[in-house]
Amino acid sequence: MENTKHKSSGYIFGCTNKSEKECLERMLFATNKVYADKILKVKKGDTLFLYNLDSDKLYGVFRAKSAGRKDIVPDAWNGRYPYQVEVEKEGKIKSIMDAKKVLSKLGIDWRHSLDESKIVLLQNYLKHPVDLKTIRLTAKVSGMRKGGLPNSSFEEDKPALEATTLWDYPRQSYGNTPKGDNKYAGVTPAFIIYNLVRRYTEPGDLVVDPMAGSGTTMDVCREEGRRCIAYDIAPVRPDVIQNDARNIPLPDESVDMIFVDSPYGDNIRYNDHPADIGKISAESEEFYEELEKVIGECHRILKKGKVLGWLIGDQWVRKRFTPVGFKVYRRLCNYFETVDIICVARRNQTSNTGIWYSRALRFNFYLRGFKYLFIMRKSAGETLKYSSRKSKWGEYSRDRKNHMN
Ligand SMILES: C[S@@+](CC[C@H](N)C(=O)[O-])C[C@H]1O[C@@H](n2cnc3c(N)ncnc32)[C@H](O)[C@@H]1O
Repeated sequence: MENTKHKSSGYIFGCTNKSEKECLERMLFATNKVYADKILKVKKGDTLFLYNLDSDKLYGVFRAKSAGRKDIVPDAWNGRYPYQVEVEKEGKIKSIMDAKKVLSKLGIDWRHSLDESKIVLLQNYLKHPVDLKTIRLTAKVSGMRKGGLPNSSFEEDKPALEATTLWDYPRQSYGNTPKGDNKYAGVTPAFIIYNLVRRYTEPGDLVVDPMAGSGTTMDVCREEGRRCIAYDIAPVRPDVIQNDARNIPLPDESVDMIFVDSPYGDNIRYNDHPADIGKISAESEEFYEELEKVIGECHRILKKGKVLGWLIGDQWVRKRFTPVGFKVYRRLCNYFETVDIICVARRNQTSNTGIWYSRALRFNFYLRGFKYLFIMRKSAGETLKYSSRKSKWGEYSRDRKNHMN
């Protein structure tokens, strides 16, 4: 390797046929906010590569001329990729065709950072492309794990961002540090919050969790460089503030994202606090009225155009099904526009046992297999007067007369 004194990290940045030319002309690599954290990690002197995902062609070698930061050239790509790093060529630019296959054989995942050995491997391949059989041998010699995955590190253990509306996570947490407490009844899978934070906020943004429980949102935000205020009616850790979610002590339109994993009814005993909404049955309207107060507060504190994620599951108890998700969604629609609805597979449940399986078949009912994640947006337009809108979509009927009521 040329620059042996400087122990640099390596990164591969993606581009498309549309954006490649501007990358190379401006000598600027860039991402949108979803991958902001990757570019913000780049330090001056790091080794960079450019990967055109459309043409499957990888270019190198580049060196970071600056640290990664926001808006180095604000009008580049018409502002679509504000997280940027200035680069310079290191020698003559070379390219690799069929880069996906080559990277896989080299054991490199382009989304992750490259350690010294991966940088050398890729630099050498750019200089002297060899056939893929030889690469396999080279990779073995450099001590790579079978299957091509890079050595484990925190970043590599992070899940890839979700692209579909079906999310299924085998574990509650990820990485080397715990997110929330997986012993806490009703703890949220950290991946859900991770996906929302990465998609809908930027580094430094303020995220609020008004029903924070064991603090999963707080831990995810800390790691992702987002500010976080977490409340709960009965906090179990010192950085969660005691507060009733129906009255949040924050100014109007001051928050960039909210995540709520509320009680789903009275199925879990969270604490002994009388104001715990988890003491009210999901079969009673009171439960939804109280949650609507929380929804109203979330709407009030959220900035216009920003996102609220609400996780909720249905209920089947005492031979009766209650569509808790639909009922909460109806209340959410009184305030917010829908961005999307995600189906989150339910794992590690107390009912995930043989006995419950046989009961479900014997008594002809279904075990809960999923939860809803409602992704809602506060309108970027007019401000509500913080009272519920009159329209209730669930009550509309095909009958025109009723529709007009
Ligand atoms: C499903 S748990 C949240 C789990 C949390 N996201 C985690 O990962 O640990 C629901 C939480 O709502 C809290 N809660 C219930 N009623 C509340 C209220 N009126 N105000 C604030 N928090 C409340 C409960 O104490 C419980 O911790």
